[in-house]
Amino acid sequence: MKSSLTLSLSSLFLLAGVLGQSDSDPIQYTPTHNITTIYGTWSSGSMNVVTGSGFASPSNVSFHYPPTTGVSYSLQSLADPNVSLGCSTEDGYYELAQYRMSGNASNPNCISGVMMWAHGTYTLQPNGSITGIPFGDGYMQVEEACGALSNFIQDYNDTELYTSWGISQGTLPNSNTNTYILQMYQYNGEPLPEQYQVSTTPIMLPTKPLRNIPSGSAASDIVLSKRNGGDRRSAGVGVLVAGVAAITTTSLLL
Ligand SMILES: *[C@@H]1O[C@H](CO)[C@@H](O)[C@H](O)[C@H]1NC(C)=O
Ligand SMILES: *[C@@H]1O[C@H](CO)[C@@H](O)[C@H](O)[C@H]1NC(C)=O
Ligand SMILES: *[C@@H]1O[C@H](CO)[C@@H](O)[C@H](O)[C@H]1NC(C)=O
Ligand SMILES: *[C@@H]1O[C@H](CO)[C@@H](O)[C@H](O)[C@H]1NC(C)=O
Ligand SMILES: *[C@@H]1O[C@H](CO)[C@@H](O)[C@H](O)[C@H]1NC(C)=O
Ligand SMILES: *[C@@H]1O[C@H](CO)[C@@H](O)[C@H](O)[C@H]1NC(C)=O
Repeated sequence: MKSSLTLSLSSLFLLAGVLGQSDSDPIQYTPTHNITTIYGTWSSGSMNVVTGSGFASPSNVSFHYPPTTGVSYSLQSLADPNVSLGCSTEDGYYELAQYRMSGNASNPNCISGVMMWAHGTYTLQPNGSITGIPFGDGYMQVEEACGALSNFIQDYNDTELYTSWGISQGTLPNSNTNTYILQMYQYNGEPLPEQYQVSTTPIMLPTKPLRNIPSGSAASDIVLSKRNGGDRRSAGVGVLVAGVAAITTTSLLL
């Protein structure tokens, strides 16, 4: 499932020097980890994708479509008085929100859009990775301009693995405003888009399961429409897919 969502992001530049440590050594906290706290909310690009109630409504399995693509992560600190994990080794709660588009090299009109939301508990691992265990109530909406099922919602309950991360200082896009920048690397080594600090207090939905999941939930896929016909849960991706079909696909990648 993960690999089908992986976009070619290698053109995004890497943060040099973040990844100096070997995988098996315990994490060496460096200025790239300690320049500021990782706790809070981060968002890429135009910062229109932000975790919390502005992105997902799990109770009715819907999304609020942001005007541009992006990713957003929130990490809550165990030191946060609102966190009570009981006796466990987790470091706190996470939430992720993603709105991604990808093109199709062989058929530029075949654009797919993915909205994704999930939350659960995470751990900053000694080897420098971040792992996340989802609650099971995550979901994603996939719209494929050329797919047999052009628009559907399905559960998303993948465990998360980010092999490393670092924080640097920089400026917001097209701005002189200073900000902190979080770079996370995915399980396959590809970087996520750089994310800017939105808030040091995480913007999150309640940190508990927020909808009932039928067991054996692969059967719970909801087909929303066949090729622009029928009911839509939301117009967002479809409108965008239709509107951008003529644009070169690389410009859509976040
Ligand atoms: C780091 O530790 C996590 C959790 O134990 C593990 O899943 C992951 O594979 C490790 N990463 C590497 C690169 O060894
Ligand atoms: C960085 O933060 C970690 C975790 O809070 C701490 O253990 C470590 O001493 C800090 N390192 C530096 C160089 O500040
Ligand atoms: C889903 O719930 C949210 C929050 O209550 C609401 O804003 C939205 O209109 C609802 N969407 C649908 C399709 O019912
Ligand atoms: C704890 O939760 C309350 C109520 O949701 C919120 O107002 C407050 O900002 C939270 N505290 C922190 C440190 O996040
Ligand atoms: C790209 O388009 C071709 C031809 O329409 C299709 O067979 C293929 O599945 C598409 N690939 C992706 C990743 O959407
Ligand atoms: C979601 O994934 C977690 C971790 O793999 C697992 O413990 C849980 O049972 C899953 N929940 C559902 C509803 O599949």
